[in-house]
Amino acid sequence: MTEALILSTWSFALEANRSAWPALTAGGASLDAVEAVCRHVEEDTEVDSVGLGGLPDATGSVTLDACVMLSPARSGSVCAVSTHLHVTSLARAVMERSPHKLLAGPGAERFAAEHGFEARELLTDEARATYESWLADADSVGPQNIDPSLEEHHDTVGSLALDASGVLAGACSTSGMRFKTPGRVGDSPITGHGLWVHPEHGACVATGSGELMMGSNTAFLAVEEMRRGAEVAEALKRAIERTAEEHELGPEDQVALLGMRPDGSWAAMSLRPGFRAVLSSGEEPALIEPESIWST
Ligand code: GLY
Repeated sequence: MTEALILSTWSFALEANRSAWPALTAGGASLDAVEAVCRHVEEDTEVDSVGLGGLPDATGSVTLDACVMLSPARSGSVCAVSTHLHVTSLARAVMERSPHKLLAGPGAERFAAEHGFEARELLTDEARATYESWLADADSVGPQNIDPSLEEHHDTVGSLALDASGVLAGACSTSGMRFKTPGRVGDSPITGHGLWVHPEHGACVATGSGELMMGSNTAFLAVEEMRRGAEVAEALKRAIERTAEEHELGPEDQVALLGMRPDGSWAAMSLRPGFRAVLSSGEEPALIEPESIWST
């Protein structure tokens, strides 16, 4: 028997981890746990980077991306979904009920309707107000002077879990970069970029600037480092350093990773300070302030 664990990104996962924990310790599957964590955050209207309450693209449309993964052969993703809230469950349905790995936009929405997912309005009043104020600023300053990626980090919920049978699972869910160019899809639904799980070598999930992870296959890279024998923290450090080296970073760019191996070892690390993670290894989840590689 392995000790159960859930490790998730950002403090908004405190309640989410707490809600997923009882089923996991009662013998539940790690895949159910990571799905439950992401669903909880998708419902949380206070989180403006995931699910309901997520900020829209530059035209005011909220689009969601998600991924679940058990192994290189078993993953499912959806991206650019504008009609359904629980994109993590939809990604799981792609994995379990289709021969495909990734469904996008209208095709994913049609798949959702065909598989009984309830359509929901995703733009909340608060998110609409924030969008309108951004739009007003863009109108007065001129859109050419506004770089949405510089405004704030956008914060994916990512979760890794290990169950009593020693099975690793990962999931992530995001509304992506706030006020993004319509059609932009980030790292989260692309396996190897925002999430990678290998049942024997380890798992990694990313949060931060998706374009960086997409340039360096960051999650895959971290797990490859584990495969070559690196401890989890060292693997995350190498993947973050390599991602930073391979890009010209803006002042707000962040690369933050969680890693876990099937032996229960885990780590959390970021390029810049400010990242938080939540670890459940007992009934009460612990908020962690991970080590950062840079001091600012
Ligand atoms: N890391 C999430 C995104 O860039 O969309």
